[in-house]
Amino acid sequence: MKPPRLFLEPKRILKGLGTRSLGQTLYCFSKVASTNDVILQLAEGGAVEGTTVAAESQSKGRGRQGRRWVSTEGKSLAFSILLKPRLHADEVSEITLAAAVAVAKTLEHYRLRPKIKWPNDILLSGKKVCGILTEMGPNKDKMISVVLGIGINLNQAGKDFPPALRETATSLYRCSGRRADRTLFFQKLLVQLEETYRWVEERRFTKVLSEWRKRSDTLGRQVKVTQGPRHFFGQAVDVDEKGALLVRNDLGMVERVTSADVETLKIRKF
Ligand code: BTN
Repeated sequence: MKPPRLFLEPKRILKGLGTRSLGQTLYCFSKVASTNDVILQLAEGGAVEGTTVAAESQSKGRGRQGRRWVSTEGKSLAFSILLKPRLHADEVSEITLAAAVAVAKTLEHYRLRPKIKWPNDILLSGKKVCGILTEMGPNKDKMISVVLGIGINLNQAGKDFPPALRETATSLYRCSGRRADRTLFFQKLLVQLEETYRWVEERRFTKVLSEWRKRSDTLGRQVKVTQGPRHFFGQAVDVDEKGALLVRNDLGMVERVTSADVETLKIRKF
Protein backbone atom coordinates (compact mmCIF):
# COMPACT_ATOMS: atom_id res chain seq x y z
CA MET A 1 0.00 0.00 0.00
CA LYS A 2 1.29 3.49 -0.87
CA PRO A 3 2.00 5.72 2.15
CA PRO A 4 -0.34 8.72 2.33
CA ARG A 5 1.02 11.74 0.45
CA LEU A 6 1.97 14.28 3.09
CA PHE A 7 3.78 17.06 1.33
CA LEU A 8 2.54 19.39 -1.34
CA GLU A 9 4.31 18.68 -4.62
CA PRO A 10 5.04 21.47 -7.10
CA LYS A 11 4.64 19.09 -10.05
CA ARG A 12 1.08 18.17 -9.05
CA ILE A 13 0.13 21.76 -8.28
CA LEU A 14 1.52 23.10 -11.55
CA LYS A 15 -0.28 20.46 -13.59
CA GLY A 16 -3.39 22.20 -14.84
CA LEU A 17 -2.85 25.32 -12.73
CA GLY A 18 -5.04 27.91 -14.43
CA THR A 19 -3.08 31.05 -13.62
CA ARG A 20 -0.94 33.28 -15.79
CA SER A 21 1.66 34.18 -13.16
CA LEU A 22 0.67 33.40 -9.57
CA GLY A 23 2.23 30.10 -8.51
CA GLN A 24 3.85 29.47 -11.89
CA THR A 25 7.25 29.66 -10.18
CA LEU A 26 6.68 27.52 -7.13
CA TYR A 27 8.77 26.14 -4.29
CA CYS A 28 7.40 23.76 -1.65
CA PHE A 29 9.41 23.16 1.53
CA SER A 30 8.83 20.86 4.47
CA LYS A 31 9.99 23.48 6.97
CA VAL A 32 11.15 27.09 6.82
CA ALA A 33 11.30 29.93 9.35
CA SER A 34 8.59 31.89 7.54
CA THR A 35 7.49 31.68 3.91
CA ASN A 36 7.27 35.49 3.93
CA ASP A 37 11.00 35.62 4.72
CA VAL A 38 11.86 33.18 1.94
CA ILE A 39 9.94 35.33 -0.54
CA LEU A 40 11.73 38.45 0.75
CA GLN A 41 15.09 36.78 0.06
CA LEU A 42 13.97 35.65 -3.40
CA ALA A 43 12.72 39.18 -4.14
CA GLU A 44 16.15 40.60 -3.23
CA GLY A 45 17.62 38.21 -5.80
CA GLY A 46 15.25 39.48 -8.51
CA ALA A 47 12.51 36.79 -8.45
CA VAL A 48 9.63 37.32 -10.86
CA GLU A 49 6.13 38.43 -9.90
CA GLY A 50 3.95 35.53 -8.87
CA THR A 51 6.81 33.50 -7.33
CA THR A 52 5.21 31.40 -4.60
CA VAL A 53 6.67 29.58 -1.62
CA ALA A 54 4.69 27.06 0.43
CA ALA A 55 5.79 25.20 3.55
CA GLU A 56 4.35 22.40 5.63
CA SER A 57 5.55 24.04 8.81
CA GLN A 58 7.19 27.27 9.88
CA SER A 59 9.38 27.72 12.93
CA LYS A 60 8.72 31.47 12.94
CA GLY A 61 5.38 31.77 11.18
CA ARG A 62 4.13 35.24 11.95
CA GLY A 63 0.79 36.94 11.95
CA ARG A 64 -0.48 40.49 12.24
CA GLN A 65 0.28 42.62 15.29
CA GLY A 66 3.37 40.54 16.16
CA ARG A 67 1.39 37.34 16.76
CA ARG A 68 2.56 33.81 15.86
CA TRP A 69 1.01 31.65 13.18
CA VAL A 70 1.04 27.89 13.66
CA SER A 71 0.44 25.48 10.75
CA THR A 72 -0.23 21.76 10.99
CA GLU A 73 1.98 19.58 8.78
CA GLY A 74 0.00 17.92 6.02
CA LYS A 75 -3.28 19.54 7.08
CA SER A 76 -3.03 23.25 6.41
CA LEU A 77 -1.72 25.59 3.76
CA ALA A 78 0.93 28.21 4.49
CA PHE A 79 2.34 30.11 1.56
CA SER A 80 3.53 33.49 0.34
CA ILE A 81 3.47 35.15 -3.04
CA LEU A 82 5.67 37.88 -4.47
CA LEU A 83 3.67 40.68 -6.10
CA LYS A 84 4.94 43.72 -7.96
CA PRO A 85 1.84 45.87 -8.24
CA ARG A 86 1.65 49.17 -10.06
CA LEU A 87 0.47 50.87 -6.87
CA HIS A 88 1.65 53.46 -4.38
CA ALA A 89 2.81 52.10 -1.03
CA ASP A 90 -0.31 53.55 0.66
CA GLU A 91 -2.55 51.50 -1.64
CA VAL A 92 -1.13 48.13 -0.64
CA SER A 93 -3.99 47.47 1.79
CA GLU A 94 -6.15 47.03 -1.33
CA ILE A 95 -4.25 43.79 -1.98
CA THR A 96 -5.00 42.54 1.51
CA LEU A 97 -8.74 43.01 1.09
CA ALA A 98 -8.61 41.50 -2.40
CA ALA A 99 -6.84 38.43 -0.98
CA ALA A 100 -9.50 38.06 1.71
CA VAL A 101 -12.21 38.06 -0.97
CA ALA A 102 -10.28 35.42 -2.94
CA VAL A 103 -9.98 33.12 0.07
CA ALA A 104 -13.68 33.55 0.89
CA LYS A 105 -14.70 32.76 -2.69
CA THR A 106 -12.53 29.62 -2.67
CA LEU A 107 -14.13 28.40 0.56
CA GLU A 108 -17.54 29.00 -1.03
CA HIS A 109 -16.68 26.31 -3.60
CA TYR A 110 -16.91 23.93 -0.62
CA ARG A 111 -20.45 25.12 0.18
CA LEU A 112 -19.25 27.13 3.14
CA ARG A 113 -20.35 30.64 4.09
CA PRO A 114 -17.17 32.44 5.16
CA LYS A 115 -17.24 35.92 6.69
CA ILE A 116 -14.46 38.48 6.63
CA LYS A 117 -13.44 40.29 9.80
CA TRP A 118 -11.74 43.57 8.95
CA PRO A 119 -9.25 43.72 7.44
CA ASN A 120 -8.62 40.14 6.43
CA ASP A 121 -9.38 37.41 8.94
CA ILE A 122 -11.59 34.78 7.38
CA LEU A 123 -14.12 33.23 9.73
CA LEU A 124 -16.27 30.13 9.56
CA SER A 125 -18.99 29.87 12.20
CA GLY A 126 -17.40 32.82 13.98
CA LYS A 127 -13.96 31.17 14.29
CA LYS A 128 -10.81 31.97 12.38
CA VAL A 129 -9.98 29.68 9.45
CA CYS A 130 -7.47 31.88 7.64
CA GLY A 131 -5.11 34.76 8.30
CA ILE A 132 -3.40 37.03 5.81
CA LEU A 133 -0.22 39.02 6.34
CA THR A 134 0.88 41.52 3.70
CA GLU A 135 4.37 42.97 4.03
CA MET A 136 6.40 45.36 1.91
CA GLY A 137 9.25 43.82 -0.06
CA PRO A 138 12.25 45.56 -1.59
CA ASN A 139 11.67 48.54 -3.87
CA LYS A 140 13.68 48.27 -7.08
CA ASP A 141 13.69 50.49 -10.15
CA LYS A 142 10.98 52.68 -8.55
CA MET A 143 8.68 49.62 -8.37
CA ILE A 144 7.32 48.42 -5.06
CA SER A 145 7.09 44.76 -4.19
CA VAL A 146 4.70 43.12 -1.77
CA VAL A 147 4.78 39.79 0.03
CA LEU A 148 1.33 38.32 0.42
CA GLY A 149 1.36 35.58 3.10
CA ILE A 150 -1.65 33.36 3.67
CA GLY A 151 -2.26 30.66 6.27
CA ILE A 152 -5.38 28.46 6.01
CA ASN A 153 -6.64 25.69 8.24
CA LEU A 154 -7.95 22.99 5.96
CA ASN A 155 -8.03 19.49 7.37
CA GLN A 156 -7.34 19.85 11.08
CA ALA A 157 -9.61 18.21 13.60
CA GLY A 158 -10.22 20.01 16.90
CA LYS A 159 -7.41 18.07 18.63
CA ASP A 160 -4.88 19.23 16.03
CA PHE A 161 -5.07 22.80 17.36
CA PRO A 162 -3.11 23.83 20.44
CA PRO A 163 -5.57 23.94 23.39
CA ALA A 164 -5.32 27.74 23.58
CA LEU A 165 -6.64 28.05 20.00
CA ARG A 166 -9.43 25.45 20.07
CA GLU A 167 -12.12 27.98 20.99
CA THR A 168 -11.13 30.58 18.43
CA ALA A 169 -9.75 28.63 15.45
CA THR A 170 -11.45 26.29 13.06
CA SER A 171 -10.80 24.47 9.79
CA LEU A 172 -12.61 23.71 6.56
CA TYR A 173 -12.92 20.10 7.76
CA ARG A 174 -14.40 21.05 11.13
CA CYS A 175 -17.05 23.15 9.40
CA SER A 176 -17.88 20.96 6.41
CA GLY A 177 -17.18 17.46 7.73
CA ARG A 178 -15.19 16.82 4.54
CA ARG A 179 -11.46 16.82 4.01
CA ALA A 180 -10.20 18.98 1.16
CA ASP A 181 -7.59 17.92 -1.37
CA ARG A 182 -4.95 20.51 -0.54
CA THR A 183 -3.51 20.56 -4.06
CA LEU A 184 -6.92 21.27 -5.57
CA PHE A 185 -7.72 23.90 -2.96
CA PHE A 186 -4.38 25.60 -3.59
CA GLN A 187 -4.96 25.63 -7.36
CA LYS A 188 -8.46 27.11 -6.97
CA LEU A 189 -7.20 29.72 -4.53
CA LEU A 190 -4.34 30.82 -6.80
CA VAL A 191 -6.85 31.34 -9.61
CA GLN A 192 -9.13 33.42 -7.36
CA LEU A 193 -6.16 35.43 -6.05
CA GLU A 194 -5.05 36.22 -9.57
CA GLU A 195 -8.54 37.43 -10.44
CA THR A 196 -9.02 39.73 -7.43
CA TYR A 197 -5.42 40.99 -7.76
CA ARG A 198 -6.23 41.90 -11.37
CA TRP A 199 -9.18 43.99 -10.16
CA VAL A 200 -6.75 45.94 -7.98
CA GLU A 201 -4.19 46.32 -10.77
CA GLU A 202 -6.86 47.50 -13.19
CA ARG A 203 -8.01 50.13 -10.69
CA ARG A 204 -11.29 48.33 -10.12
CA PHE A 205 -11.01 48.30 -6.36
CA THR A 206 -14.75 49.11 -6.09
CA LYS A 207 -15.35 45.55 -7.30
CA VAL A 208 -13.17 44.19 -4.47
CA LEU A 209 -15.01 46.42 -2.00
CA SER A 210 -18.45 45.29 -3.06
CA GLU A 211 -17.43 41.61 -2.79
CA TRP A 212 -15.75 42.33 0.56
CA ARG A 213 -18.82 44.17 1.94
CA LYS A 214 -21.12 41.26 0.97
CA ARG A 215 -19.09 38.96 3.21
CA SER A 216 -18.23 41.37 5.99
CA ASP A 217 -18.55 40.24 9.58
CA THR A 218 -17.51 43.68 10.85
CA LEU A 219 -19.78 46.26 9.24
CA GLY A 220 -22.74 47.24 11.37
CA ARG A 221 -21.17 45.74 14.50
CA GLN A 222 -20.10 47.34 17.75
CA VAL A 223 -16.32 47.14 17.85
CA LYS A 224 -13.40 47.76 20.14
CA VAL A 225 -10.49 49.27 18.24
CA THR A 226 -7.02 48.92 19.77
CA GLN A 227 -4.14 50.91 18.33
CA GLY A 228 -1.04 50.41 20.49
CA PRO A 229 -1.81 51.76 23.97
CA ARG A 230 -5.01 53.50 22.83
CA HIS A 231 -8.42 51.91 22.41
CA PHE A 232 -11.90 53.17 21.68
CA PHE A 233 -15.38 51.74 21.13
CA GLY A 234 -17.74 52.49 18.27
CA GLN A 235 -19.78 51.14 15.42
CA ALA A 236 -18.11 49.95 12.22
CA VAL A 237 -20.00 51.81 9.51
CA ASP A 238 -18.07 51.17 6.28
CA VAL A 239 -14.75 50.66 4.55
CA ASP A 240 -13.51 53.54 2.40
CA GLU A 241 -12.08 53.51 -1.11
CA LYS A 242 -8.61 52.62 0.27
CA GLY A 243 -9.86 49.78 2.49
CA ALA A 244 -9.67 51.70 5.79
CA LEU A 245 -12.36 50.89 8.34
CA LEU A 246 -14.68 53.77 9.25
CA VAL A 247 -15.82 53.63 12.86
CA ARG A 248 -18.35 56.02 14.43
CA ASN A 249 -17.07 56.58 17.94
CA ASP A 250 -19.20 57.24 21.00
CA LEU A 251 -19.01 61.01 20.35
CA GLY A 252 -20.58 60.47 16.94
CA MET A 253 -17.39 61.23 15.02
CA VAL A 254 -16.25 58.86 12.28
CA GLU A 255 -12.64 57.73 12.74
CA ARG A 256 -10.63 56.26 9.88
CA VAL A 257 -8.78 53.13 11.01
CA THR A 258 -5.92 51.88 8.84
CA SER A 259 -4.01 49.62 11.19
CA ALA A 260 -5.43 48.23 14.42
CA ASP A 261 -6.77 45.23 16.23
CA VAL A 262 -10.54 45.24 15.86
CA GLU A 263 -12.70 43.13 18.15
CA THR A 264 -16.39 42.72 17.31
CA LEU A 265 -18.48 42.97 20.44
CA LYS A 266 -22.06 42.01 19.68
CA ILE A 267 -24.42 41.73 16.71
CA ARG A 268 -26.06 45.03 15.90
CA LYS A 269 -26.90 45.54 12.22
CA PHE A 270 -28.01 49.01 11.12
C1 BTN B 1 -2.79 36.75 10.90
O1 BTN B 1 -3.94 36.32 10.91
O2 BTN B 1 -2.34 37.34 11.88
C2 BTN B 1 -1.96 36.55 9.66
C3 BTN B 1 -1.40 35.18 9.58
C4 BTN B 1 -0.56 34.95 8.34
C5 BTN B 1 0.14 33.62 8.33
C6 BTN B 1 0.81 33.33 7.04
S1 BTN B 1 1.31 31.65 6.91
C7 BTN B 1 2.24 32.01 5.49
C8 BTN B 1 2.91 33.34 5.73
N1 BTN B 1 4.15 33.18 6.44
C9 BTN B 1 4.14 33.74 7.64
O3 BTN B 1 5.10 33.76 8.45
N2 BTN B 1 2.94 34.29 7.86
C10 BTN B 1 2.07 34.13 6.73
